[in-house]
Amino acid sequence: MQYIMKGGNPLVGEVVISGAKNAALGILAAGIMTDESVIIDNLPDVRDINVMLDALRDIGVVVERLGKHRVKLNSGNIHSVRVDNEYIRRMRAGYYLLGALLGKYRHAEVALPGGCDIGSRPIDQHLKGFRALRANTQVEYGMVVADASELTGGHVYMDIVSVGPTINVILPAVLASGNTIIENAAKEPHVVDVANMLNSMGANVKGAGTDVIRIRGVERLHSTEYSIIPDQIEAGTFMFAAAVTRGDVTVRNVIPKHMEAISAKLTEMGCEVVEFDDSIRVLGKPRLYSCNIKTLPYPGFPTDMQPQMGVALTIAEGTGIITESIFENRFKYVDELAKMGAFIKVEGNVAVVSGNTRLTGANLVAPDLRAGAALVLAGLAADGVSTVDDIQYILRGYENFDRKLRRLGAEIELVKDGREAQKFRLRVG
Ligand code: EPZ
Repeated sequence: MQYIMKGGNPLVGEVVISGAKNAALGILAAGIMTDESVIIDNLPDVRDINVMLDALRDIGVVVERLGKHRVKLNSGNIHSVRVDNEYIRRMRAGYYLLGALLGKYRHAEVALPGGCDIGSRPIDQHLKGFRALRANTQVEYGMVVADASELTGGHVYMDIVSVGPTINVILPAVLASGNTIIENAAKEPHVVDVANMLNSMGANVKGAGTDVIRIRGVERLHSTEYSIIPDQIEAGTFMFAAAVTRGDVTVRNVIPKHMEAISAKLTEMGCEVVEFDDSIRVLGKPRLYSCNIKTLPYPGFPTDMQPQMGVALTIAEGTGIITESIFENRFKYVDELAKMGAFIKVEGNVAVVSGNTRLTGANLVAPDLRAGAALVLAGLAADGVSTVDDIQYILRGYENFDRKLRRLGAEIELVKDGREAQKFRLRVG
């Protein structure tokens, strides 16, 4: 499978943004922490979510699809606290099941997390957090094991601001006895969303969205119905799609406050960005100006939008500097863009992007999820036909990516083989 596209069309119209994948992964884990049924709405229909749902089924959670984006979980009969399958090993967020199962059953065994190859991605802060709750942790035979006869609230100071460990300590702490304080916590919208979901189940989590989170443990959690926030990164990707194709796109079902870092940069680059209550319109202009960014934890510029910015800078006027401060291996898309005529010099965690490039179509390979999406944007901005291979990465996190782009006027198709690709080439001429 690959995406094939012909660039050059300005994207115009409206696109509805799906629920946030990275919030949903934490929320699904939270949802198994009660024996009562929970209903989760606005769940994105993407691969990582479906892998997570399969992992839940494997341990005995009854998963009922109430609709494409709505699911009911009943976790009253979980028969195993060991989570291990081929697919969960390839994703990152399986680690949330450690926190959730540890909280509910005081014991959890989960395969060491995989995920996109964007850096070394240690889990030391997760383990440090569990230990602060008096759990024993060890890694053996490729599994992370956490066990606590008495799970007790504790004080955790995170060495780095990091989403995964923040959520993963909140999860068990809500059912621990006593109070927990997490300092230097991540402030991302998905941390807040998981905390809100837990509070709707009867937990007592305060301060999510600030850098100190206080949790008072409760005896048990109960049923809830909860709707996931919109995906900040999917929205940002479409906003950049408007910018690089000089189009006019309104992203709908977004929370504009979550998009501020992205809106500000697009404005600085010369786009017109208009905010409404739950939508944002981006009008691309014929001239795009370069800028500098440094990726930072929220509310800074998100690392998950860095490759999309890299593409925009290749066609902007002037030279732009990207400093990647979250993951050490997030510039793999640079070699792919070079095939399209881009010139980007990477030195350690800094990329210097020369602008004014006329990108031309090429055969590209997606190195990871966000970089893959960024290469699609490059293909839509380029002259001629491009292909993007290894799109299983993109399918992990973008729902109906090609269909949503087509509705905005993009010439893009998901093709299964060379024959279908040839048909596309003949059609677009
Ligand atoms: C989450 O990854 C997201 N994944 C990533 O989404 C996202 O890029 C990242 O947060 C940053 O926002 C999920 O939510 C499933 P972190 P995660 O914990 O949990 C270091 C996407 O494309 N660190 O915030 O791995 C780590 O190495 C992706 O959707 C430790 O040192 O990120 C990194 O430098 C890919 N020790 C930084 O913290 C730890 O124990 C941020 O990590 C944990 C993390």
